[in-house]
Amino acid sequence: MSKFKYTPENEAKFQEQIKRYPNSDSMMLPALWLVQEQEGWVSPDAMIYVADKLNKTPIEVYEFATFYTMFNLKPIGTYHIELCKTLSCMVMGAPELKKFIKETIGIGPGETSEDGLFHFSEVECLGACGGAPMFALNGQYHENQSVESLKNVIQECKNASKSSK
Ligand code: FES
Repeated sequence: MSKFKYTPENEAKFQEQIKRYPNSDSMMLPALWLVQEQEGWVSPDAMIYVADKLNKTPIEVYEFATFYTMFNLKPIGTYHIELCKTLSCMVMGAPELKKFIKETIGIGPGETSEDGLFHFSEVECLGACGGAPMFALNGQYHENQSVESLKNVIQECKNASKSSK
């Protein structure tokens, strides 16, 4: 029995989405995505929960969750910065942004800051090449970035975290 449970809002989304999918295999990704939206990562406990909901075995859910790199399989920081490392973004300044993240937050790709506020990933093209260099912050795209604009975004995250305490 899993301790994880969707929030009532996510349960409602799940019930709405499952009507649109023909079988439980096709509902697997949306169901896992809801978990990640809720928790920031997909725990083994949540995989058991999803398995129960979709009449699957936990290992079947595990196979999906580990195949797709977009799923975090351990807890990450409150703010997930996904910096595009593909050609347009590389040419337009992604290396400077990466360097700035290392210098100011102290983390490289795959790392979480000590205070748990930030997690940094380098990712392949996010399909916003016209806005290079770009990164996603908790899934929200920030295009045409510079060190200065990234600095502001990081500061906004820090301010938001302070005011929520
Ligand atoms: S190359 Fe960065 S979004 Fe496409």
